[in-house]
Amino acid sequence: MEAFEVTGGTRLSGEVSVSGAKNSVLKLMAASLLAPGTSTITAVPEILDVSVMAELLRRLGCDVTHDVVAASLTITVPETLHHQADYDLVRRMRASVCVLGPLISRCHRAEVAVPGGDAIGSRGLDLHIAGLNRLGVEVHNEHGYLMANAPGRLQGASIWLDFPSVGATENLLMASVLAKGTTVIDNAPREPEIADLCRMLVSMGAQIDGIGSATLEVTGVESMHPTTYQTVPDRIVAGTWAVAAVITGGDIMVRSARAGDLEIALDKLVTAGAHIEVGDHGFRVTMDRRPRAVDVVTLPYPGFPTDLQPQFIALNAVADGAAMVTENLFEARFRFVQELRRLGADVRTDGHHALVRGTPRLSGAPVEATDVRAGAGLVLAGLVAEGTTTVFDISHIDRGYAHFVRDLTGVGGQIARVDI
Ligand code: UD1
Repeated sequence: MEAFEVTGGTRLSGEVSVSGAKNSVLKLMAASLLAPGTSTITAVPEILDVSVMAELLRRLGCDVTHDVVAASLTITVPETLHHQADYDLVRRMRASVCVLGPLISRCHRAEVAVPGGDAIGSRGLDLHIAGLNRLGVEVHNEHGYLMANAPGRLQGASIWLDFPSVGATENLLMASVLAKGTTVIDNAPREPEIADLCRMLVSMGAQIDGIGSATLEVTGVESMHPTTYQTVPDRIVAGTWAVAAVITGGDIMVRSARAGDLEIALDKLVTAGAHIEVGDHGFRVTMDRRPRAVDVVTLPYPGFPTDLQPQFIALNAVADGAAMVTENLFEARFRFVQELRRLGADVRTDGHHALVRGTPRLSGAPVEATDVRAGAGLVLAGLVAEGTTTVFDISHIDRGYAHFVRDLTGVGGQIARVDI
């Protein structure tokens, strides 16, 4: 079993470069299914989830080549696709469910395993299904699979989402681009990754208005063509580096990152005492004191991202003062707090609130990464804990952070991947 051994106490300083966003590239890979021929995606992060999605596309009949040096993926999509996404892949990565939209679009039928429970919450699919129903797709659950069928070409419709679900919108976008007529998705999420998917679809010939807004209007086209497209930078990885600078009282230049996609999170860090300089191709975060505690409330974009919540709990755990952290998206996301307590953090949770009382010192201990972002939060806590923190279950961290150990070491962090 592999683990990260983190020795706390060093101030991080130097430069890091952020790759393409995990939460975008997986959907861009699925979008390539919409056009037979060869599409190329660039700025692809070298993470486990990309390998899982590549395997899924291969099983659907595609040829996929990942050039890790060029950080690009070449996906050759056949005229006729298989239409089944098996449980062994969907259970490894819930985002596999995003092939449902393109498969129903191209094949007029799809069988996708139901993902089941998840470390951060129950995560329903009701909004995906209700939206597909509006487009004329029949969906039922059989033997653990979502069986989706459409009599022919999908029919554009008006869809009002009860909640701005990222995953549901991605499936509905990819289902509607080849539908007959116009589809309007209202109360759509405004996450940068949604805009990224829309832009790739447009570069493949789709017609989408309102990109970046809460109302997306898709005018169906007869066919789409392959493309070459660059993934948006990973705002969550960039935000994790920003917290790493602040928590260690360091100085990190985060390159290839968009500060504009992280406004609330960076503003919180300024409230905590950091200095942030924004440039054209990144931002620099410096900190010269113990952070002040900052309240956080997670909300859909442009609200504070739930995927940075564990990192901010870690920050508050060593801050001066007390902070209330409210989680509004995933009910089980506070599970990792029990691990943080093992390092001596003073955190009490009640429903979707966590009260974090800052303590001047944490002390290293063995802990378990319960999900990808919790894992990042634990590594950050380990960087400021006295002694050694061993983080187990690091496959979760490998799902979303490329070269984490190399990059942390590059800015002076004491961390190693070890075999236990
Ligand atoms: C995506 C991101 C995840 C991020 C989240 C919110 C990927 C791979 N994951 O997850 O990192 O934290 O967006 O920005 O891109 N819901 C329903 N019914 C549905 C769909 C969703 O009740 O049909 C609920 C979920 O349980 C959750 C909330 O809506 O409570 C948000 O989910 P959603 O926006 O769909 O997130 P994901 O696409 O799963």
